[in-house]
Amino acid sequence: MNIILMGPPGAGKGTQAAKLVSEYGLAHISTGDIFRKALKEQTKYGVIAKYFIQFGYLVPDDYTIGMVREYLREHEFPNGFILDGFPRTIIQARELESIGKEFGFKIDAVLNLDVDLDILATRLSGRRTCRNCGATYHIEFNPPKTQDVCDKCGGELYQRADESEEAVKVRLETYNKQTRPLVDYYTMTGDITNINGDQSMEDVFSDIKARLEAM
Ligand code: AP5
Ligand code: ZN
Repeated sequence: MNIILMGPPGAGKGTQAAKLVSEYGLAHISTGDIFRKALKEQTKYGVIAKYFIQFGYLVPDDYTIGMVREYLREHEFPNGFILDGFPRTIIQARELESIGKEFGFKIDAVLNLDVDLDILATRLSGRRTCRNCGATYHIEFNPPKTQDVCDKCGGELYQRADESEEAVKVRLETYNKQTRPLVDYYTMTGDITNINGDQSMEDVFSDIKARLEAM
């Protein structure tokens, strides 16, 4: 089973992807995580992505598509995958279709987490991420047992560089301009399921499961 998980910044894509990984053994492919890792390791994609990510812009399509193509070619997905944060533009969606034909996979479901834009800034400003294992928390909605310490591995929790007020504003504008049209594209060309993301994390997950188990 191969899934695209869409939604605005802070909608809960990473949170729900982690649940899907443990429930169905899917591989989690987050372009944001891959870019952040590349940035840390100073690879060619990291150096290019740094500028765009820190200010909240999308990394240009050709680099992003090149990186995803490379990632899909170099990894195996025996139980399928969740694409989190890709595609984010219509050009990326079209390219994904041709990569699928070339590599022999298809997308089984496109899930769109629908969350009111007003809520997103609160979600993003309260998020804390583990430096070691990447687990995410929220200071109010999903706090760690000990402040700034990861429950899972004891790693230090930090705030991402693109969580400043200014960067969050740009990310939300970028979403509206470049990614929202993709929701319309999938609505017109095929099958997209809107999931109400403005519920508890558990309720969002049970709506996702209901959709996948009805396939
Ligand atoms: P990326 O890392 O993909 O960031 P994003 O899309 O902005 O999404 P986030 O990771 O911020 O949020 P999320 O939806 O995963 O929410 P989460 O589960 O953490 O991309 C970063 C950057 O990389 C982009 O800006 C761009 O520059 C670049 N990039 C990436 N992909 C690209 C592409 N395809 N093309 C070009 N550029 C690309 O939840 C957020 C918080 O809310 C957490 O604290 C969580 O605990 C909490 N929370 C989650 N669910 C709930 C709930 N139901 N109730 C209450 N709180 C909740
Ligand atoms: Zn951790």
